[in-house]
Amino acid sequence: MPTTRVPRLRRFLVCEPRHFAVQYAINPWMRPESPVDTGLAGEQWQGLVRAYREHGHRVETVEPVPGLPDMVFAANAAFVVGGRVFGSLFHAQERRPESEHYALWFTSAGYEVHRPLAVAEGEGDLVWTGRYVLAGTGFRTTRDAHREVQEVLGHPVIGLTLVDPYFYHLDTALFVLDDDNIVYYPEAFSAGSREVLRRLYPDAVLATRDDAMAFGLNSVSDGRNVFIAPQAEVLAERLAEHGYDPVPVDLSEFHKAGGGIKCCTQEIR
Ligand code: ARG
Repeated sequence: MPTTRVPRLRRFLVCEPRHFAVQYAINPWMRPESPVDTGLAGEQWQGLVRAYREHGHRVETVEPVPGLPDMVFAANAAFVVGGRVFGSLFHAQERRPESEHYALWFTSAGYEVHRPLAVAEGEGDLVWTGRYVLAGTGFRTTRDAHREVQEVLGHPVIGLTLVDPYFYHLDTALFVLDDDNIVYYPEAFSAGSREVLRRLYPDAVLATRDDAMAFGLNSVSDGRNVFIAPQAEVLAERLAEHGYDPVPVDLSEFHKAGGGIKCCTQEIR
C-alpha cells in the first residue's frame, strides 16, 4: 500500500442552495411535511465549497432558479468526460426544467451539450472510473440511456442494477477513489451486479449499511483527500487505513432530500 497518495486537482460546478427545500417526495428520504433549515443548509454548503477550495480545487457556480428546489444537486445535471457533455433528462417531471439551465451554463462556457433522448440523471447514475463508465439503473437512469452514453461518448459502459430504494442513484451506493479502486455498499446491487463489481474491483473498500445510510458513499475523492459525511465513521476509518485522508463535510440538511456531498458536485473533466 502506498504511504503517500497523490491528489489530482479538479474542476467542480456547484449550485447555491438559495431555493433549496423539500417540496415533493421522489425518493424515500424526502418528507415534505418536515421542514429544512435553509440557513443551516446554506452554511453547510458554504463549508463544502470552502473545503474544496482549501484543497486546491477549482469551484464554479451556476445560478439557482426559483421553483427548482433540487437544483442544488448539480451532479444530476450532466456527465462530462474529455470535454464532452452528456446532459440530463430527469425521471421526475418536477426536476425536468433543471436540465435546460445547466445546458445553458455549459453552452456559455463553450461546451457542446448532448441532450439525451432517454431518462438519464447525470453523475447521479453515471460514474467515470478513469477507463470506463459505471452506469446505474433500476430507479432513474434507463438501460436505453446507458446505450446512448456509450454511443455519444465512445467509452465502454458497464450497467449495474440498483435494488434498494434508499440508494436510488449509483452515487449513493458507490464512489471512485482513484484510477485503481472504488468503494461500494454491496447490498444496494442485484446479485449479478455485485459479482461484476467483485470481478472488476477485487480489492474494493466495502461499506456497511450504516455508512451507506449516513451518505458515506456519496463522497468525492481527489485521489488522496476524501470529502465524506462525518456520520460515516466506520468508512472514514477504513479509508484512513488504506492511506486516504478523510475530510469531513457535514451536509445533514441535504440528507433530508436524499442528497449529500457528491450530489451537490458536478465534475468537469
Ligand atoms: N431530491 C433529489 C432527487 O431525488 C436528490 C438528488 C440527489 N442526487 C444524487 N446525485 N444522488 O432527485
